[in-house]
Amino acid sequence: MHAFAKAVVLAAGLALAASSAHAVDPFFPTFGNNGIDVRNYDLDLDVAMPSSRLTAKATLDIRALEDITTFRLDLTGLTVSEVLIDGVPAVFNQRNESKLTIRPRVAIPKGKSFKAVISYAGAPKPIQDPTVPDDPSYQLGWFTYDGATYALSEPVGASTFYPSNDEPTDKATFNRIAITVPAGYTAVANGLLKSTTPLGAKTRFVWSMDEPMTTWLATVHINRFDVKVTATTTGKPLRFYSTAATPAADVASYAKSRSMIAYFETLVGPYPFDSYGSVVVDDPALYYALETQGMSTFPLGAADEGIVAHELAHQWFGNSVSVAAWADLWLAEGFATYFEVLWPNRRSPAAFDAAMRRMYDYAVDAQLGPAVVDRPEDIFSDRTYVRGALALYALQLKVGTETFFRIARTWQETYRGRNANSRQFILTAVDVSGDRTVSTLLSDWLFKAPVPPLPGGQPSAARRLGPAPKPDLVGLRCGRGSHRGAPAVCAGAAAN
Ligand code: ARG
Ligand code: ZN
Repeated sequence: MHAFAKAVVLAAGLALAASSAHAVDPFFPTFGNNGIDVRNYDLDLDVAMPSSRLTAKATLDIRALEDITTFRLDLTGLTVSEVLIDGVPAVFNQRNESKLTIRPRVAIPKGKSFKAVISYAGAPKPIQDPTVPDDPSYQLGWFTYDGATYALSEPVGASTFYPSNDEPTDKATFNRIAITVPAGYTAVANGLLKSTTPLGAKTRFVWSMDEPMTTWLATVHINRFDVKVTATTTGKPLRFYSTAATPAADVASYAKSRSMIAYFETLVGPYPFDSYGSVVVDDPALYYALETQGMSTFPLGAADEGIVAHELAHQWFGNSVSVAAWADLWLAEGFATYFEVLWPNRRSPAAFDAAMRRMYDYAVDAQLGPAVVDRPEDIFSDRTYVRGALALYALQLKVGTETFFRIARTWQETYRGRNANSRQFILTAVDVSGDRTVSTLLSDWLFKAPVPPLPGGQPSAARRLGPAPKPDLVGLRCGRGSHRGAPAVCAGAAAN
């Protein structure tokens, strides 16, 4: 390692350790709460079906980041009946309809850890998606449809079903997500299935995510599922949940995650969680997939393995290594889009290059702005997905394929289970490549408006055929970026 690079990486590491984040994100300032660090969530949810009415108890292990007399959690549309702090009843209120404000009987000094047990109930409802603030058909959180339930929360929907510190840097383990449902239903959540217990007219499913997870990745699915159980090549459980309405081609596509995991492991290092799986939502209103940690969620129509590769890549990029701020979401979506293109082209570097160059031509034609975005409406835009993936491709062309994947692996090892930002990515790339000019290249891709030239790039062969068509990528389907220009099928689905 170069001495210069070593010094900057060290400095970045220290800065990270000192700040340890837990700041409310500027994109969604009404979510997240100062002064607390949640270490673990234990959720015990009893869900009546088909109403999906919830009776629940959440136990949060919290560390005080400052002296606390009162603190707040995000919770919306559910009624709290009791709060215990280290076993002692606390005063609380829900006067702010999206916050639970708690005043412990005795003040908690900075640095102390304590347990908050919150009993609550109600019929959860989704909330407005603030990335599309002017369209009430875009919602987040807990949904019910046709006698089934699913919870999808990116970026800020967690408060619809559990009291949370809903900001991206307060990662926590979820060592128990227990879901009790009427017999005949299956309940799916993140991570490992620990137990299934028949209790007369009900069944209790206990799940566990022992690696840190951001609040928006927590998921719950309740439906009449079929399951296929297998294992990764390293022996970790793989579970694929489908319904009677799920096309066989979708299920066949999920099964490819076994070989995808093995392939991605050779490139970027070990799969970061104890298990993987996928679960279908057969509500036709859902038009996107989500990388819910350890158990990706798919809409109907996931027969294209690109979408399976995309959500799987997120387990490393976005889930294990999470963004420190929503503005930097390209660190998740750019990598996921890169691997989505790489997987089907893995046996042909020429085909991969051609696909990336088509994407480049599209970026130039569309004059896509920098990968780092400055407003919440742009976090799911082409800038994040396409320009983010192209920034990585430009880096690969500059440093070579072997060094590029060394950077990706080092990024994973350095920030596993934590949060990181664009500056830290640039430092890692400079450090691993030993090439200080990589910093300029990445800064141009990430922060500056004009689409930079590709290193060593002549115009692509496809260019001679005229304007570049929109590539068929997960991030470009159904208006992920341009909701308003969404194809009719997506607009109709979203309005349901
Ligand atoms: N992270 C998801 C993916 O790329 C996209 C989520 C879109 N979310 C939304 N609320 N529109 O697979
Ligand atoms: Zn994605």
